[in-house]
Amino acid sequence: TPLPSSQTLLRCRELRSAIVSPFKMTIIIEQPQFDAAAERKVAGDPAELVLDGGFTVPDSNAFGHTFRDYDAESERKKTVEEFYSVNHINQTYEFVQRMRDAYGRLDKTEMSIWECIELLNEFIDDSDPDLDMPQIEHLLQTAEAIRKDYPDEDWLHLTGLIHDLGKVLLHPSFGELPQWAVVGDTFPVGCAFDECNVHSKYFKENPDYHNPEFNTKFGAYSEGCGLDKVLMSWGHDDYMYLVAKENKTTLPSAGLFIIRYHSFYPLHKHGAYTHLMNEEDKENLKWLHVFNKYDLYSKSSIRIDVEEVKPYYMSLIDKYFPGKLRW
Ligand SMILES: [Fe+2]
Ligand SMILES: [Fe+2]
Repeated sequence: TPLPSSQTLLRCRELRSAIVSPFKMTIIIEQPQFDAAAERKVAGDPAELVLDGGFTVPDSNAFGHTFRDYDAESERKKTVEEFYSVNHINQTYEFVQRMRDAYGRLDKTEMSIWECIELLNEFIDDSDPDLDMPQIEHLLQTAEAIRKDYPDEDWLHLTGLIHDLGKVLLHPSFGELPQWAVVGDTFPVGCAFDECNVHSKYFKENPDYHNPEFNTKFGAYSEGCGLDKVLMSWGHDDYMYLVAKENKTTLPSAGLFIIRYHSFYPLHKHGAYTHLMNEEDKENLKWLHVFNKYDLYSKSSIRIDVEEVKPYYMSLIDKYFPGKLRW
Protein backbone atom coordinates (compact mmCIF):
# COMPACT_ATOMS: atom_id res chain seq x y z
CA THR A 1 0.00 0.00 0.00
CA PRO A 2 1.52 3.35 -0.93
CA LEU A 3 1.90 5.67 2.01
CA PRO A 4 -0.44 8.65 2.03
CA SER A 5 1.16 11.80 0.72
CA SER A 6 1.18 14.91 2.86
CA GLN A 7 -1.28 16.34 0.36
CA THR A 8 -3.72 13.53 1.10
CA LEU A 9 -3.31 14.09 4.81
CA LEU A 10 -3.98 17.77 4.33
CA ARG A 11 -7.11 17.10 2.32
CA CYS A 12 -8.21 14.68 4.96
CA ARG A 13 -7.94 17.46 7.51
CA GLU A 14 -9.82 19.89 5.33
CA LEU A 15 -12.64 17.41 5.09
CA ARG A 16 -12.71 16.92 8.83
CA SER A 17 -16.01 18.70 9.33
CA ALA A 18 -17.68 16.54 6.72
CA ILE A 19 -16.64 13.26 8.28
CA VAL A 20 -19.76 12.23 10.11
CA SER A 21 -23.34 13.25 10.02
CA PRO A 22 -25.05 11.95 13.14
CA PHE A 23 -28.23 11.45 11.15
CA LYS A 24 -27.04 9.27 8.36
CA MET A 25 -24.19 6.89 8.72
CA THR A 26 -22.62 7.83 5.43
CA ILE A 27 -19.07 8.78 6.10
CA ILE A 28 -17.83 11.32 3.61
CA ILE A 29 -14.13 11.21 3.99
CA GLU A 30 -11.15 10.98 1.79
CA GLN A 31 -9.20 8.60 3.89
CA PRO A 32 -5.61 7.71 3.26
CA GLN A 33 -5.34 3.95 3.06
CA PHE A 34 -3.50 2.49 5.99
CA ASP A 35 -2.28 -1.02 5.86
CA ALA A 36 -2.39 -3.39 8.75
CA ALA A 37 0.78 -1.90 10.19
CA ALA A 38 -1.21 1.18 11.10
CA GLU A 39 -2.98 -0.92 13.70
CA ARG A 40 0.22 -1.42 15.59
CA LYS A 41 0.88 0.68 18.56
CA VAL A 42 4.14 1.96 19.82
CA ALA A 43 4.63 0.44 23.23
CA GLY A 44 7.38 2.36 24.96
CA ASP A 45 10.30 1.48 22.78
CA PRO A 46 9.23 2.64 19.34
CA ALA A 47 10.98 -0.34 17.81
CA GLU A 48 8.74 -2.66 19.73
CA LEU A 49 5.54 -2.44 17.79
CA VAL A 50 2.54 -4.34 18.90
CA LEU A 51 -0.60 -5.10 16.99
CA ASP A 52 -3.71 -3.57 18.42
CA GLY A 53 -5.13 -7.04 18.48
CA GLY A 54 -2.55 -7.91 21.08
CA PHE A 55 0.05 -9.68 18.99
CA THR A 56 3.65 -8.70 18.99
CA VAL A 57 5.07 -8.43 15.55
CA PRO A 58 7.13 -11.49 14.73
CA ASP A 59 10.82 -10.98 14.04
CA SER A 60 10.51 -12.77 10.77
CA ASN A 61 7.70 -13.97 8.58
CA ALA A 62 6.98 -17.41 7.22
CA PHE A 63 9.39 -16.84 4.35
CA GLY A 64 12.24 -15.99 6.67
CA HIS A 65 12.29 -12.33 5.70
CA THR A 66 13.28 -10.32 8.68
CA PHE A 67 11.24 -7.37 9.85
CA ARG A 68 14.23 -6.06 11.73
CA ASP A 69 15.75 -5.04 8.47
CA TYR A 70 16.33 -1.31 8.45
CA ASP A 71 14.03 -0.31 5.58
CA ALA A 72 11.13 -2.41 6.76
CA GLU A 73 11.57 -1.05 10.26
CA SER A 74 11.67 2.59 9.24
CA GLU A 75 8.79 2.07 6.82
CA ARG A 76 6.73 0.64 9.61
CA LYS A 77 7.55 3.46 11.97
CA LYS A 78 6.54 5.90 9.30
CA THR A 79 3.18 4.21 8.79
CA VAL A 80 2.53 4.22 12.52
CA GLU A 81 3.49 7.88 12.73
CA GLU A 82 1.16 8.74 9.85
CA PHE A 83 -1.62 6.84 11.52
CA TYR A 84 -1.18 8.89 14.70
CA SER A 85 -0.90 12.18 12.87
CA VAL A 86 -4.35 11.72 11.32
CA ASN A 87 -5.71 10.39 14.59
CA HIS A 88 -4.39 13.27 16.69
CA ILE A 89 -5.50 15.95 14.25
CA ASN A 90 -9.06 14.68 13.92
CA GLN A 91 -9.98 13.48 17.42
CA THR A 92 -11.53 16.66 18.78
CA TYR A 93 -14.01 17.19 21.60
CA GLU A 94 -16.71 17.90 19.05
CA PHE A 95 -15.88 14.84 16.96
CA VAL A 96 -16.11 12.59 20.01
CA GLN A 97 -19.45 14.11 21.02
CA ARG A 98 -20.88 13.47 17.59
CA MET A 99 -19.64 9.90 17.50
CA ARG A 100 -20.98 9.14 20.97
CA ASP A 101 -24.34 10.59 19.99
CA ALA A 102 -24.51 8.68 16.73
CA TYR A 103 -23.29 5.33 18.05
CA GLY A 104 -24.78 5.61 21.53
CA ARG A 105 -28.22 5.19 19.96
CA LEU A 106 -27.41 1.56 19.25
CA ASP A 107 -29.73 1.53 16.28
CA LYS A 108 -27.43 -0.24 13.81
CA THR A 109 -28.32 -3.86 14.44
CA GLU A 110 -29.19 -6.54 16.97
CA MET A 111 -26.99 -9.53 17.61
CA SER A 112 -25.69 -11.69 20.43
CA ILE A 113 -22.13 -11.44 21.72
CA TRP A 114 -21.19 -14.66 19.96
CA GLU A 115 -22.63 -13.44 16.66
CA CYS A 116 -20.47 -10.34 17.00
CA ILE A 117 -17.38 -12.46 17.62
CA GLU A 118 -18.13 -14.36 14.42
CA LEU A 119 -18.71 -11.16 12.46
CA LEU A 120 -15.42 -9.70 13.65
CA ASN A 121 -13.66 -12.94 12.94
CA GLU A 122 -14.85 -13.02 9.34
CA PHE A 123 -13.82 -9.60 8.22
CA ILE A 124 -10.83 -8.52 10.32
CA ASP A 125 -8.71 -11.44 9.17
CA ASP A 126 -9.20 -10.60 5.52
CA SER A 127 -7.82 -7.14 6.02
CA ASP A 128 -4.92 -8.05 8.24
CA PRO A 129 -2.22 -10.06 6.49
CA ASP A 130 -0.04 -10.05 9.61
CA LEU A 131 -2.45 -12.11 11.62
CA ASP A 132 -1.79 -15.73 10.86
CA MET A 133 -4.41 -16.69 13.37
CA PRO A 134 -8.09 -15.76 13.46
CA GLN A 135 -9.16 -12.80 15.59
CA ILE A 136 -11.31 -15.18 17.59
CA GLU A 137 -8.16 -16.88 18.79
CA HIS A 138 -6.69 -13.61 20.08
CA LEU A 139 -9.85 -13.09 22.07
CA LEU A 140 -9.93 -16.65 23.35
CA GLN A 141 -6.19 -16.69 24.08
CA THR A 142 -6.58 -13.56 26.16
CA ALA A 143 -9.56 -15.02 27.98
CA GLU A 144 -8.04 -18.46 28.52
CA ALA A 145 -4.75 -17.04 29.79
CA ILE A 146 -6.63 -14.97 32.35
CA ARG A 147 -8.77 -17.96 33.27
CA LYS A 148 -5.69 -20.02 34.01
CA ASP A 149 -4.28 -17.45 36.45
CA TYR A 150 -7.56 -16.13 37.89
CA PRO A 151 -9.90 -19.14 37.79
CA ASP A 152 -12.49 -17.58 40.08
CA GLU A 153 -12.90 -14.25 38.28
CA ASP A 154 -15.28 -15.39 35.57
CA TRP A 155 -16.20 -11.77 34.74
CA LEU A 156 -12.55 -11.16 33.84
CA HIS A 157 -12.53 -14.15 31.47
CA LEU A 158 -15.54 -12.73 29.66
CA THR A 159 -14.01 -9.25 29.62
CA GLY A 160 -10.99 -10.75 27.87
CA LEU A 161 -13.23 -12.36 25.31
CA ILE A 162 -15.21 -9.25 24.42
CA HIS A 163 -12.77 -6.38 24.94
CA ASP A 164 -12.09 -5.85 21.20
CA LEU A 165 -15.58 -6.40 19.82
CA GLY A 166 -15.99 -2.66 19.28
CA LYS A 167 -13.78 -3.12 16.23
CA VAL A 168 -16.97 -3.91 14.33
CA LEU A 169 -16.95 -0.14 13.74
CA LEU A 170 -14.65 -1.00 10.84
CA HIS A 171 -17.42 -3.07 9.26
CA PRO A 172 -19.53 -1.62 6.42
CA SER A 173 -22.76 -2.05 8.38
CA PHE A 174 -21.32 0.14 11.14
CA GLY A 175 -20.30 2.94 8.82
CA GLU A 176 -16.91 1.44 8.00
CA LEU A 177 -15.10 3.98 10.14
CA PRO A 178 -11.49 4.73 9.22
CA GLN A 179 -8.79 3.07 11.32
CA TRP A 180 -7.90 6.29 13.13
CA ALA A 181 -11.43 6.40 14.57
CA VAL A 182 -11.38 2.78 15.73
CA VAL A 183 -7.95 1.60 16.89
CA GLY A 184 -4.75 2.95 18.39
CA ASP A 185 -4.02 4.44 21.79
CA THR A 186 -6.78 6.57 23.30
CA PHE A 187 -6.55 9.79 25.32
CA PRO A 188 -8.89 12.35 26.90
CA VAL A 189 -10.22 15.19 24.76
CA GLY A 190 -11.43 18.44 26.31
CA CYS A 191 -8.25 19.06 28.28
CA ALA A 192 -4.57 19.48 27.48
CA PHE A 193 -3.01 16.56 25.58
CA ASP A 194 -0.28 14.98 27.67
CA GLU A 195 3.25 14.81 26.26
CA CYS A 196 3.43 11.10 26.91
CA ASN A 197 0.88 10.42 24.19
CA VAL A 198 2.66 8.70 21.35
CA HIS A 199 3.64 11.21 18.62
CA SER A 200 2.14 14.02 20.67
CA LYS A 201 3.57 16.71 18.42
CA TYR A 202 0.65 16.19 16.01
CA PHE A 203 -1.81 17.51 18.58
CA LYS A 204 -0.58 20.96 17.65
CA GLU A 205 -2.65 20.59 14.50
CA ASN A 206 -5.77 19.59 16.42
CA PRO A 207 -8.16 22.60 16.64
CA ASP A 208 -8.71 21.91 20.38
CA TYR A 209 -5.03 22.57 20.99
CA HIS A 210 -5.70 26.24 20.34
CA ASN A 211 -9.01 26.42 22.24
CA PRO A 212 -8.55 28.01 25.70
CA GLU A 213 -11.59 26.07 26.94
CA PHE A 214 -9.79 22.80 26.31
CA ASN A 215 -6.05 23.42 26.36
CA THR A 216 -5.43 23.68 30.10
CA LYS A 217 -4.57 20.89 32.52
CA PHE A 218 -8.21 20.40 33.56
CA GLY A 219 -9.95 21.95 30.55
CA ALA A 220 -13.65 21.02 30.64
CA TYR A 221 -13.10 18.89 33.79
CA SER A 222 -12.10 19.28 37.43
CA GLU A 223 -9.69 17.63 39.81
CA GLY A 224 -10.72 14.07 40.68
CA CYS A 225 -13.97 14.36 38.71
CA GLY A 226 -13.76 10.73 37.66
CA LEU A 227 -12.98 9.31 34.23
CA ASP A 228 -16.66 8.68 33.63
CA LYS A 229 -17.03 12.45 33.19
CA VAL A 230 -14.15 12.61 30.73
CA LEU A 231 -14.60 12.24 26.98
CA MET A 232 -12.06 9.87 25.48
CA SER A 233 -10.89 9.87 21.88
CA TRP A 234 -13.36 7.78 19.89
CA GLY A 235 -12.59 4.17 19.15
CA HIS A 236 -13.50 0.55 19.77
CA ASP A 237 -13.02 0.82 23.53
CA ASP A 238 -15.63 3.46 24.26
CA TYR A 239 -18.06 2.00 21.73
CA MET A 240 -17.97 -1.46 23.33
CA TYR A 241 -18.38 0.16 26.73
CA LEU A 242 -21.54 1.92 25.50
CA VAL A 243 -22.88 -1.33 24.06
CA ALA A 244 -22.27 -3.19 27.32
CA LYS A 245 -23.67 -0.48 29.55
CA GLU A 246 -26.76 0.34 27.48
CA ASN A 247 -27.61 -3.33 27.16
CA LYS A 248 -27.50 -3.48 30.94
CA THR A 249 -24.75 -5.99 31.40
CA THR A 250 -24.23 -7.26 34.91
CA LEU A 251 -20.44 -7.20 34.52
CA PRO A 252 -18.82 -5.50 37.53
CA SER A 253 -17.56 -1.94 37.20
CA ALA A 254 -13.96 -3.18 36.81
CA GLY A 255 -14.97 -5.15 33.71
CA LEU A 256 -16.58 -2.08 32.14
CA PHE A 257 -13.52 -0.03 33.07
CA ILE A 258 -11.20 -2.49 31.34
CA ILE A 259 -13.29 -2.50 28.18
CA ARG A 260 -13.43 1.28 28.13
CA TYR A 261 -9.80 2.08 28.89
CA HIS A 262 -7.71 -0.84 27.63
CA SER A 263 -6.16 1.37 24.90
CA PHE A 264 -5.62 4.30 27.29
CA TYR A 265 -1.86 3.71 27.35
CA PRO A 266 -1.01 7.20 28.64
CA LEU A 267 -2.82 6.22 31.84
CA HIS A 268 -2.12 2.54 32.34
CA LYS A 269 1.41 2.54 30.99
CA HIS A 270 2.65 6.04 31.80
CA GLY A 271 0.47 7.11 34.74
CA ALA A 272 -0.66 10.33 33.04
CA TYR A 273 -4.05 11.97 33.62
CA THR A 274 -4.39 10.53 37.15
CA HIS A 275 -5.53 13.98 38.32
CA LEU A 276 -8.87 13.25 36.63
CA MET A 277 -9.43 9.96 38.45
CA ASN A 278 -11.69 9.36 41.42
CA GLU A 279 -11.39 6.62 44.06
CA GLU A 280 -13.37 4.07 42.06
CA ASP A 281 -11.15 4.64 39.03
CA LYS A 282 -8.09 3.99 41.16
CA GLU A 283 -9.52 0.67 42.32
CA ASN A 284 -10.48 -0.31 38.79
CA LEU A 285 -7.08 0.65 37.41
CA LYS A 286 -5.56 -2.21 39.41
CA TRP A 287 -7.64 -4.66 37.40
CA LEU A 288 -6.75 -2.92 34.16
CA HIS A 289 -3.08 -3.45 34.96
CA VAL A 290 -3.79 -7.14 35.52
CA PHE A 291 -5.73 -7.36 32.27
CA ASN A 292 -3.16 -5.54 30.23
CA LYS A 293 -0.57 -8.22 30.75
CA TYR A 294 -2.86 -10.67 29.01
CA ASP A 295 -3.99 -8.36 26.21
CA LEU A 296 -0.37 -8.00 25.24
CA TYR A 297 0.08 -11.71 25.53
CA SER A 298 2.45 -12.23 22.70
CA LYS A 299 1.48 -14.40 19.82
CA SER A 300 1.29 -17.73 21.45
CA SER A 301 1.99 -20.99 19.73
CA ILE A 302 -0.75 -22.55 21.79
CA ARG A 303 -3.74 -22.83 19.51
CA ILE A 304 -7.16 -22.71 21.07
CA ASP A 305 -9.79 -25.26 20.16
CA VAL A 306 -12.75 -22.92 19.74
CA GLU A 307 -15.40 -25.64 19.88
CA GLU A 308 -13.93 -27.05 23.06
CA VAL A 309 -14.04 -23.83 25.07
CA LYS A 310 -17.16 -22.33 23.46
CA PRO A 311 -19.66 -23.89 25.93
CA TYR A 312 -17.87 -22.27 28.86
CA TYR A 313 -17.92 -18.83 27.26
CA MET A 314 -21.52 -19.25 26.15
CA SER A 315 -22.43 -19.82 29.79
CA LEU A 316 -20.65 -16.58 30.75
CA ILE A 317 -22.37 -14.66 27.97
CA ASP A 318 -25.66 -16.05 29.25
CA LYS A 319 -24.82 -14.90 32.75
CA TYR A 320 -23.67 -11.36 31.94
CA PHE A 321 -25.23 -10.56 28.54
CA PRO A 322 -28.33 -12.69 28.02
CA GLY A 323 -30.10 -12.63 24.64
CA LYS A 324 -29.67 -10.26 21.74
CA LEU A 325 -27.94 -6.94 22.25
CA ARG A 326 -28.56 -3.65 20.51
CA TRP A 327 -25.49 -2.32 18.66
FE1 LIG B 1 -6.86 -6.85 22.35
FE1 LIG C 1 -8.32 -3.29 21.73
